[in-house]
Amino acid sequence: MVKVIVGTQFGDEGKGRIIELFSKSADVVARYQGGANAGHTLIIDGNTVVFHLVPCGIIYPNTMCVIGNGVVIDPEALINELTNLEKYGFKAGKRFFISNSAHIVMPYHKSKDDITGKIGTTHKGIGPCYEDKYGRRGIRMIELLYPEFFKEKLKTLVSSVDFQPMYEQYCKYGEILAPYIADTTALMNKWIQEKKEVLLEGAQGLLLDIDHGTYPYVTSSNPHSGGACTGLGISPTCIDEVIGVVKAYTSRVGEGPMPTTMAPDIEEAIRSRGKEYGATTGRPRRCGWLDIVLLKRVLMTNGIKKIVLTKLDTLDEMSKIKICTKYVPEANFALPELMYKTQPVYEELDGWQTPISDIRDYKKLPAATKKYVEKISELLNVEIVAICIGPQKDATIFL
Ligand code: IMP
Repeated sequence: MVKVIVGTQFGDEGKGRIIELFSKSADVVARYQGGANAGHTLIIDGNTVVFHLVPCGIIYPNTMCVIGNGVVIDPEALINELTNLEKYGFKAGKRFFISNSAHIVMPYHKSKDDITGKIGTTHKGIGPCYEDKYGRRGIRMIELLYPEFFKEKLKTLVSSVDFQPMYEQYCKYGEILAPYIADTTALMNKWIQEKKEVLLEGAQGLLLDIDHGTYPYVTSSNPHSGGACTGLGISPTCIDEVIGVVKAYTSRVGEGPMPTTMAPDIEEAIRSRGKEYGATTGRPRRCGWLDIVLLKRVLMTNGIKKIVLTKLDTLDEMSKIKICTKYVPEANFALPELMYKTQPVYEELDGWQTPISDIRDYKKLPAATKKYVEKISELLNVEIVAICIGPQKDATIFL
């Protein structure tokens, strides 16, 4: 079975935890786009372990972990992450694979990332690296294995002053990462043919997709479920299921429209309860009500029939909960200027105003919580397979 798990909003839906949960029964976990702009924190045996590039399947000793060709790799960040993981006992060993065709984030990518701050990027060099990829002047992982080719290419890309130290530094990275660099396309196809349980992990969120998000306020890759095919070299016909992770409200870090922004006092309460600060940059996230209009479009375009609803407990103290079901005038998703002008129309539900984090039986949840969950399922016409109701590892109820 091949499953894709994607965040359906602007990232930070609590996807990492769901991927961690599903990884337990997976033979293979693979990343297909983005880079060290993604961030996911796990608390393991009381230790805080942060993941940026390595699939969190690495915490299960028998799970194969893959970074696909669609990912852009900052070797320094990756080496630091692997070293840190090893400190906590998670060894990459012979089950960690990096695509030989994945592009490399270079220092000059980071230094020119969103200098004006117009997009509010994570400054990890993601956009400039993808620019070079599509400009056909990028450097790929395999080139680190062939220093003579790498040398010639790098000479054409940087000044003679910068060349030597950068060349030597990246050759060193190449030596460290060499054992992991592989033809991951062949491996993925082999494992799929062998009917392994395969989990494909989307980073960021579908509304940050370069083609289908709120352009230009997006990331530079395709978190779209289709990106899993191009980003790993597998056929669309092998994907059995796309599962969407939906946060019970909306959040956004960085610039760009978010029509369902909450009143400032409510937003502050949600930000603080939901710890809505960027995992990669620490920036406060903007918070808003659940946006059914955007979600419907995302579910349709990605083939999502099942969702996991996360962070319901963040709404515990709300006396009223709003759901945006319509925009006036109707939204034009392609132009942010029009998105900024549109007004959300809300349905208002009663809040449950009681803590729900310790409940483990769906039937025992407050009636208002169940009503909110069922309303979302009905409005989106989707099956909710699980809900997350607290930060504890076991605070997930499968429905
Ligand atoms: P970039 O991906 O660093 O180029 O940033 C582009 C936009 O995507 C910015 O608004 C970032 O804040 C946002 N972004 C990138 N990665 C993530 C993520 O993992 N979670 C949430 N937002 C993200």
